[in-house]
Amino acid sequence: MKICIIGTGYVGLVTGPCLAELGNVITCVDNNEDKIKQLKEGVIPIYEPGLDEIIHRNVEQGRISFTTSIEEGVKKSDIIFIAVSTPPKPNGQADLSSVANVAQQVAYSMDSYKVIVDKSTVPVKTGEKVAETIKRYNKHNIDFDVVSNPEFLREGSAVMDFMHPDRIVIGVTSQRAAKIMTELYEPLGAQIMITNIKSAEIIKHASNSFLAMKISFANELASVCELAGADIEEVVAGMGSDSRIGRAFLNAGIGYGGSCFPKDVSAFIRIAEDLGHDFHILKEVERINREQRERFIKKIEDTLWVVKDKQIGILGLAFKPNTDDMRSAPSIDIINHLQAEGASIRAYDPEAMKVAEKLLEDVMFCKDPYEVADGSDALVICTEWDEFKNIDLERIRKLLTHPIIIDGRNIFVPGDMDRNGFLYKSIGR
Ligand code: UGA
Repeated sequence: MKICIIGTGYVGLVTGPCLAELGNVITCVDNNEDKIKQLKEGVIPIYEPGLDEIIHRNVEQGRISFTTSIEEGVKKSDIIFIAVSTPPKPNGQADLSSVANVAQQVAYSMDSYKVIVDKSTVPVKTGEKVAETIKRYNKHNIDFDVVSNPEFLREGSAVMDFMHPDRIVIGVTSQRAAKIMTELYEPLGAQIMITNIKSAEIIKHASNSFLAMKISFANELASVCELAGADIEEVVAGMGSDSRIGRAFLNAGIGYGGSCFPKDVSAFIRIAEDLGHDFHILKEVERINREQRERFIKKIEDTLWVVKDKQIGILGLAFKPNTDDMRSAPSIDIINHLQAEGASIRAYDPEAMKVAEKLLEDVMFCKDPYEVADGSDALVICTEWDEFKNIDLERIRKLLTHPIIIDGRNIFVPGDMDRNGFLYKSIGR
């Protein structure tokens, strides 16, 4: 099929190339000229395992092209994906101006029947608004269908998630669109769920909010475990092996970050409010997430007693492993707070340092964890990269001024760390 993907952010730049890999012909559109120029030169603006190869292979085989022209993309294609960003406004609501603008331009450019698919995360009823907009600006009354097809891929495993989804949700108002979308996704062999558009839109916010709620539940539980002398890792293993609960997203830590959970939980609270419903539980999910970072900072302060003039080494800056994304990364708040208290900071992250350099001031960025440890009064783990799990602890202990590790991601076993001569603090154990 011929497909146009508007927006080359994480979602668009994974969806387009993966659909090309399935044999479709893709036009990727973005209004950022620099980005399109870079993509044409083979420079991929995000770090995502496996993505480079897929893009290069499909560009070579003529299945992906890049342009800044929506008109060109729409005229060449049968299915148009809207994958532009919907950033939060100060009140938590999603800013839909890019979606509205794209819908208008798609309408101007349509010359034959098109399926217009909303892949961006949007509030319920956006599909209706997109359909109204297209109808309004579609002067020649060309037939079209609007579809909601929310994306569930995670950064860091986006290609795998796209190729092997648990389910594909397709919200439609017509059989014709349902048939086209089912054909598009059939090669993945995944469960396809056809729903109405509003249900599809809510499935996305409900899924992310529920996962965030699982994390906040695990974080509250960790505090209870600490007070009771239990071990959160044993508790979530015990709970998670009940198939009704499941072990995923029960890792206690320093709270969720990234570009999705914080934004989507807050947006869903607003969506419910606008519909006249107070979604109490999600407000608590947000509060717990905020307090989890504060509790971790307090743990560092309690361990070091006085933070002023101490050198603190930070391992991990990205909001999670296998990405260079720093959006709403807990490490930012933690570093800012420790600096405000008068600490000097050394830091290392396998992928996120280039991005971090633009966000953090007065941090000494190091070439590896050993340079971070050298002369530091304590090491603080903010992201659970595999590289840190396999670190030479003996070498680290010798480099540190004091053998203190405060682990926000529970990557080590407390007993082992005691035997290795560390003062080791983690979460919920
Ligand atoms: C999330 C969802 O998992 C995807 O399904 C969804 O498509 C995406 O948002 C989106 O809406 O675009 P993502 O933000 O990439 O994906 O990352 P996750 O792997 O879900 O992690 C989110 C945050 O939760 C991270 O800060 C991570 O450290 C934290 N987390 C995750 C925990 O603290 N504990 C856990 O057990 C799991």
